[in-house]
Amino acid sequence: MKVLILFGTRPEAIKMAPLIKCLQRNSDVQSIVCSTGQHREMLDQVLQLFSIEVDHDLDVMTAGQTLNGLFARLLGRIDSLLDSTQPDCVLVHGDTTSAAACAMAAFQRGIAIGHVEAGLRTGDMAQPFPEEMNRRVVDVMARWLFAPTATSRGNLLRENLQGDIFITGNTVIDALDLVVEKLATEPETTQRLARRYPWLDGERRLVLVTGHRRENFGEGFRQICEALRTLGQRGDIQIVYPVHLNPNVRNVVLDLLCDQPNVHLINPLDYVEFVWFMQRAHLVLTDSGGVQEEAPHLGKPVLVMRNTTERPEAVAAGTVKLVGTDAQTIVQAVGLMLDDRDLYAQAARSANPYGDGKASERIVAALLARNFSPFQQEGLMLYKS
Ligand code: UD1
Ligand code: UDP
Repeated sequence: MKVLILFGTRPEAIKMAPLIKCLQRNSDVQSIVCSTGQHREMLDQVLQLFSIEVDHDLDVMTAGQTLNGLFARLLGRIDSLLDSTQPDCVLVHGDTTSAAACAMAAFQRGIAIGHVEAGLRTGDMAQPFPEEMNRRVVDVMARWLFAPTATSRGNLLRENLQGDIFITGNTVIDALDLVVEKLATEPETTQRLARRYPWLDGERRLVLVTGHRRENFGEGFRQICEALRTLGQRGDIQIVYPVHLNPNVRNVVLDLLCDQPNVHLINPLDYVEFVWFMQRAHLVLTDSGGVQEEAPHLGKPVLVMRNTTERPEAVAAGTVKLVGTDAQTIVQAVGLMLDDRDLYAQAARSANPYGDGKASERIVAALLARNFSPFQQEGLMLYKS
């Protein structure tokens, strides 16, 4: 089976990397690895980490790209690639413009589509924007729907889609487990990281922040920064914020927070570094999708600066709480988590609702029409075949 695997952003690369490795180990699969290059700088470190060689780089990124400009560039370049490589199927991930454009190009050529991380829904087309639309259109076109959890399978069933649904777990846990293992077994790596960040203060609890959602551009980010300025006044914490390279995020955050001594604004971290920071964090404050899946696996409470989430499993498990983007609400929620020991202890219980490290194996088995046991959320019987 000739499989073209496509990714273009940092989270897609992280989540597709273990699957690519798994496909490459299988002699029944001929894999073609394609990066759209939607993210330039943030991708390369992930590929290096997992020793992935890209066969085709579509190099679509431009500074300050618009969604339509990006979509148009993607569609043309992916179409030529499909023409020259003639795959039996394409695998796309999640909800990005890269995924939607690739699925559309494949569909119009009659090429089968596998959707990794299918079935996530907020039910609100404006949040996250445009991701909720992207993942819906990919699911409509897909032949294989790789749902990470029983909840995502339920969402797909309600939509009466034509593709076959498989519960696989999320490949992000496969990737995270590999990095956790690396950090546990390579003392030279952790020593190097400790040397690189000598200003990390072991006496103050670490609040790790990420934020980049399009619907938070403008007022949302101003509120988030105001909350961080207020929280930065506390002497018992230190805030570390690796700032996304999108100028709509970067310009506002650097402008509003650069003079705050207790808020460390740093460049995006490579994946090993970011996992190391998550392990050290007391609390994570984010609007990211992937971080909502990873932090619970590491037993770290997460406050999500959004009004909705397509990942309700960790909210139900009590490790994730939605706090929106109002500055006062964020300050209150962080304060509670820092000061109420019982609340913190409850939220800091490690939960694995998203995966068991075997999602990639299941996806390859499903593609090759082989039997496998679906992913089951710990302690729950979620799926009956
Ligand atoms: C994209 C995805 C989003 C995903 C996020 C992960 C879409 C619609 N959005 O949003 O779903 O959660 O990536 O990070 O696909 N830039 C660089 N270098 C990089 C990356 C970005 O300079 O390595 C800058 C460029 O100016 C680029 C801009 O960021 O034009 C925006 O990047 P883009 O991919 O359009 O959107 P994101 O907001 O990153
Ligand atoms: N991440 C990273 N370095 C950072 C911030 C995040 O490697 O500085 C990782 C994080 O662990 C997760 C992924 O990037 O796996 C999330 O990416 P992002 O927040 O950009 O996108 P989303 O998950 O919201 O689509």
